[in-house]
Amino acid sequence: MSTRDPAETDTLTPTAPLEGTATTVGRGGDWWRTAVIYQVYPRSFADHDGDGVGDLPGITSRLDALGELGVDAVWLSPFYTSPQRDAGYDVADYRDVDPLFGTLADFDALRARATELGLRVIVDVVPNHTSSDHAWFREALASAPGSPARGRYLFRDGRGPDGDLPPNNWQSIFGGPAWSRVTEADGRPGQWYLHLFDSSQPDLDWTNRRVRDEFVDVLRFWLDRGVDGFRVDVAHGMIKAEGLPDYTPPADSGSMGGGQGESAPPPYWGQEGVHEIYREWNAVLAGYPGDRVLVAEAWVEPLSRLADWVRPDEMHQAFNFAYLETGWSAPAVRQVVDASIETFSSVGAPSTWVLSNHDVVRHASRLALTAENPQGHGIGPASEGLPVPELGLARARAASTLMLALPGSAYIYQGEELGLPEAIDLPDESRQDPTWFRTGGERYGRDGCRVPLPWSATEPAFGFNATGASWLPQPADWSTYARDEQRGVAGSTLELYTRALRLRADHELGAGTLTWLDGFGPDVVAFRNQGVTVVTNMGEVPVELPVAEVLLATMVVDGPALPPNATVWLAATA
Ligand code: BGC
Repeated sequence: MSTRDPAETDTLTPTAPLEGTATTVGRGGDWWRTAVIYQVYPRSFADHDGDGVGDLPGITSRLDALGELGVDAVWLSPFYTSPQRDAGYDVADYRDVDPLFGTLADFDALRARATELGLRVIVDVVPNHTSSDHAWFREALASAPGSPARGRYLFRDGRGPDGDLPPNNWQSIFGGPAWSRVTEADGRPGQWYLHLFDSSQPDLDWTNRRVRDEFVDVLRFWLDRGVDGFRVDVAHGMIKAEGLPDYTPPADSGSMGGGQGESAPPPYWGQEGVHEIYREWNAVLAGYPGDRVLVAEAWVEPLSRLADWVRPDEMHQAFNFAYLETGWSAPAVRQVVDASIETFSSVGAPSTWVLSNHDVVRHASRLALTAENPQGHGIGPASEGLPVPELGLARARAASTLMLALPGSAYIYQGEELGLPEAIDLPDESRQDPTWFRTGGERYGRDGCRVPLPWSATEPAFGFNATGASWLPQPADWSTYARDEQRGVAGSTLELYTRALRLRADHELGAGTLTWLDGFGPDVVAFRNQGVTVVTNMGEVPVELPVAEVLLATMVVDGPALPPNATVWLAATA
């Protein structure tokens, strides 16, 4: 199929290539600069032992599917020893695998299979807080105020005559106060400890050298086991402002942000002191063979501030949440892509692109929401502005193929390649996110994006396991999204992703240079990268396309027009 040649039309005017978009400058063209990294959420990927929670042997048994999809690496969310109060982001032992997920030997087997398939493996490290089940916190509780054991965390005396008021006004990201009071050994109410997240996740004191040494050791433990890098949880939160001053975030800020765009960041996010930690970690990784990477989960705005996390001697990549949070608007997408490329390349880092993860409403639903939904709040049956599913899926397919054509590195969250929407109708009693409990059900939280994957339309739990058990219930209509229903089926979302990844690799789009194409009108995002012209119609009327071979389309492109909510990749002939 072909449409009009872009070279023949004056409606299609390439603007000058963006300065500094080459993604191979600087640190030597390393794999991560252009990689597509697939996030595996172990609880929900594949369940080998049939207990309803995914596990490492389950992942290993299904890794072939990711090789077939054509990604370069997998990032595993936490599988460490944990009471699972925050789905494993509450770590009790950083050097072991929780029995729920398997054993260290299972991890080694997963690593080995990934290597056979040519997949790199990145693991999560959670340094801002431990679990309250961690040996350090138990020791702190059993020790006196002022002891070295308490000095690893942020224990403070309370305010008020009896110390019965929290030390400051900070609120937990999951709702409620960010402080809990302990009972001292003599049975009396005692000090308070800080927990920016759940009360089972006490914050560590990163001004303490003992804490720093411990995490260097944890990094080495996993580097020695052959991991290719780390996704660093809450990488903007480890250092708190001196004196822990009161702070009230703006009402409309998402859970993980707050203070967006302000000149001074909140006293618990984005403090200058975090950077020396990453410089130390960078040196640790540099001491290992191969290109090992640090990826920042830092909800920091604006992008110019986030660039500090990826300076040459710090982390290698940072998730681009500004991009993720951009809605269905062509001017906004153009603006954030420009700003990202410019900002990241100003420090020699690749731009990254991401649309979904385990903390946000899946983009097949989010892109069609008609009401504000700050990050972390989630959606449920009583939410306002719920999406029309067909519209959400069309936009997700268009947005994903736009993203996968951009230069730099892209992240895929498990299930998006199936077009999975957010599970909206989860029964209240099945919800597990601490957000749901700490807000008394006012916020649904993140369970809706964490439901176990459908592999097969007809098997128990849609092939997630053999028993039919599932830690979150799978919506009945997910058979239509099952991988075996889509594999090899022309037009399916799985085939769309597979084709996009193959073309991305063939044309080396990750290492390319983006040149905007003007002339399609304000509601269209159009650019050229390497030999590919990409056009996304975010408006409400069809858009005339140039004559060219269609490499990929998210909808049937019949004739010379691109329908609304669609993306096409054309072979650029000029
Ligand atoms: C993780 C969340 C987690 C939080 C606390 C994050 O940003 O991605 O899932 O709840 O950190 O560890």
